[in-house]
Order: sequence, then C-alpha cells, then structure tokens
Amino acid sequence: PPCLSPSLSLSLPVSLPPCLSPSLSPPPPPVQPVLQPLRLSLDKLRDVSSRLHKGLVQGLGKHSHHRAAVKMLPTFVRATPDGTEKGDFLALDLGGTNFRVLHVRVLQAEQKVVKMDSQICVVPKDMMTGATQQLFDHIASCLGDFIASQELKGQTLPLGFTFSFPCEQKEIDKSILIRWTKGFNCPGVEGRDVVTLLRDAVRRRGDYDIGSVAMVNDTVGTMMSCGYKDQSCEIGMIIGTGTNACYMEEMKNVKRVEGEDGRMCINTEWGGFGDDGSLRDIQTEFDQMVDKTSINPGVHIFEKMISGMYLGEIVRLLLLRLSEEKLLFKGQKSEVLQTPEIFQTKFISEIEEEDTGLDNARRILTQLDLQWDEADVRVVRLVCDTVSSRSARLCAAALATIANKMRLNRGLDRLQTTVGVDGTVYRKHPNFSEELQLTVRLLAPECSITFLVSEDGSGKGAAMVTAVAQRLALHSASFSCHPEVRH
Ligand code: GLC
Repeated sequence: PPCLSPSLSLSLPVSLPPCLSPSLSPPPPPVQPVLQPLRLSLDKLRDVSSRLHKGLVQGLGKHSHHRAAVKMLPTFVRATPDGTEKGDFLALDLGGTNFRVLHVRVLQAEQKVVKMDSQICVVPKDMMTGATQQLFDHIASCLGDFIASQELKGQTLPLGFTFSFPCEQKEIDKSILIRWTKGFNCPGVEGRDVVTLLRDAVRRRGDYDIGSVAMVNDTVGTMMSCGYKDQSCEIGMIIGTGTNACYMEEMKNVKRVEGEDGRMCINTEWGGFGDDGSLRDIQTEFDQMVDKTSINPGVHIFEKMISGMYLGEIVRLLLLRLSEEKLLFKGQKSEVLQTPEIFQTKFISEIEEEDTGLDNARRILTQLDLQWDEADVRVVRLVCDTVSSRSARLCAAALATIANKMRLNRGLDRLQTTVGVDGTVYRKHPNFSEELQLTVRLLAPECSITFLVSEDGSGKGAAMVTAVAQRLALHSASFSCHPEVRH
C-alpha cells in the first residue's frame, strides 16, 4: 500500500515502505502508551459502524426518533438533479466563520452551474453568540447590498439558503433550528423557523424582496452540486469545521414523513453520534476535555473527535500531556502552548506534508515558543498523524455504515455509488482522503464508492436544490391540472 497509517502498520509485520514519513518510523517507546487509545483497529471500527447503524434506524423511527442521538432529519429533497434544471437563483451560505451571498445560473444546455458573482461578509465572533435579530439583520443587510450591486432589485429570484446546522424541516421552506453547533450560540433561535427569521429581517429593511426559499444543509448542497455532473451521486459528506453526511433513503423507511414511494434525502447529523454515551469506550481523556471546555458540552461527541474545529485542540492537549510526562520538550511547556485553541488544525496538515512537513513542524514549534530538538519534531509529527488518522478512520466507518445500509435497502449484492465531499480537512490534509478511502474499502467491500470533491456545494448546490424543487413543483402542478384539461 502506498501510505499506511500508523494504526494499520502496527498490525502488519512488514517493514515500512520508504514513502512513509519519518514520523512513522518506530517512535520512542514511552510515547506509545499515551497514543495507543487513539488507535482504532479494524474490528473496533466495525463495532463502531454497527453501533451507528442502530443509531440510524433509531433516528428514522417514528417512536424512537425523539431519543435518538443521530437525528436523521428529513430534508424534503425528493430527487437528485436529472439535468433538465435551469434558471437564475440567489444562494445564501451560513455555517462556518463567513456568510456568503451568491448569484447562480443553471445552464441546462451545457449541464453546468455557473456562479455569476458572490460576496463574502464576515460574521463577527460576538455576533455568533449574540442576539438573534442582530444576526439576521446582518444577513439581510449583506443580501440587500449584494442585490443592489448586481442590479437585481425588482426581480424576486428564488433563493437557496444553506444553513449548516441541525434543523427539523417541515417542508422545503420551513426549517426549525434544533440546536446550534460549531461555535454558534445565539440564544432564542433554537425552536424557531429560520425562513421566518430571514423573511422578517428582509421585511424590516423593506427595500427588496425575495422569492421562494429552499432550506439546505451543506451536506445536501454538496450531494446536489455533484449530482448535476454525476447522477449516481446519492451521498453528500462534509469534513470541515464540522462533520456530517446525507444520503437518499427509501421513503418506506422514513417513518416520520407520510408516503411509501420513492426516496428522500436524509440529513443524518452524524456529528451527534455518541451523545447518548455510545462512544464512551473510544473517547479518550483528551476528547472528554475538548468536550467539557466547548460551548456545548455533551453535544456532537462524534464531531468533536473528527472535525476541523477540534482536531488542533486534541493535538495541543496531547502535546501538553507528553511534555508533562517529560516525553517532549525536555518536560518544558511554553505558556503559549497552554493557550486554548492556539494549535490550529491547519498546523496538522502542514506538519504532515510529505516533503516540507518537518520544516513546518520546526517553524510551528518555534512560533509556539517551545524549546525543541529533532526527536521532538518527529514525535509531534507522529501525534498529528495519530489524531488525523483516527479522524479519517472514524469517518470511514460512518460512511461505510451508510453505504452498506443503502445496499441492503435496495437488495443489491453490490452497490455502485458516488459521494460528493467537501470540507477543509478532506481537501487540505495531505493523507486524509487516501486513508478514508482505503478504510471504507475495507469496511464496505461490497460497495464501489467514487469520491467527487464538490465544487461549491453550499452555493451552487443550494441553487440546485431550489431548481429541483421548482422542477418537481411544476411537474406536480401540470400533473394535477390534467383532469381539468380533459373536462
Ligand atoms: C455540524 C452541523 C451540520 C453540518 C456540519 C458540517 O455538524 O450540525 O448541520 O452539516 O456541521 O458543516
């Protein structure tokens, strides 16, 4: 294999291939006991996968849903693109540190989604936890400025709103926030309809209007943006600031929505896996600390072991522990390293870079005011590799669970499907995608999965969801008109 993870290589009695980074050469033995709890064997991953499978079924059930950790939220997206969609759309994207507004055109003739223009508005940190009205007024004001700059005033374009938080959707345009995640925590939004909050804010301004609104989770946007290119794309996955996935589930299994026929996209909110204590055996003391000091303790346990918002902090806590045990930096930890969140997740990618990684590590350790030697540099790289590798393997276990479920749902011996993927961890980390794909192949051998990196799922994908919703609405309108026409 081209590049084994330490967790895989440990179980294999082979000499390590030369491509492996020096960090993977046998580390000083005393470091192993600290890192060992983060190394998950394939058997453990299979076990995690079967727990998640139970969680998925519980989340879909009419009577078990309310106590399920994995929420399995119906999205009211009933179809993936069929290539006939077209038109102009506005898209909003809120879910990370920035808020974006886009003008998107779907060109049917060229089977292309084109971004005409876009604008980024920063969401100040205090607004992420401040008053509801302030946040939505900010959104409406960015949208208003954009509409004016694009000379779109007077047109009421349909709008796709990528709102990347768990929402209970009642319809495509009614979406109640269940809870904030990823650093947002504006009091008073939970339990309310986000579309109403947006429309109220637009009305307060009174200088422009918006057309029909489709609410979209980023996973759904990701799936739909890939779906225009590859119509077998029926899973969307994000591994960025947060992590989550959606997939096309059989309607007969979606017990909380009426109807037995066809499929509906389910937003799994797999980040909540473990919130019922089901991952306690693999949560390390470092994971528990990250959870305890977060703004939402006890919530989104799986996400806190995997996603970009937390990986750097896990590494920082490990480095502190190793230096306390005198296994790093001659037992000296700098004051800088004791600052929460100082070790950014992007450092992990930089340190694991094949050619420049060790140099990057030297630079970063100096920046953190640490007194390092060459052995320290290698141990730090090993720590990063252990944490990112666990993340990739846990993600693989979760994706394999979904693919296996889809295969069994459809009674197939073999499932061929495409996953649309997005997120900084997946895109930017040097080995993450390779390790994820390798592990999925081992855990779901009867599924052939193609991975497609989505191009702007939150923008173009949101427009696509809106376009598909329009196509279906037109179709059902003309369908229900036929009897009258015959009269
Ligand atoms: C968090 C959100 C989820 C989103 C994911 C990726 O887990 O709860 O809705 O899809 O982050 O952005």
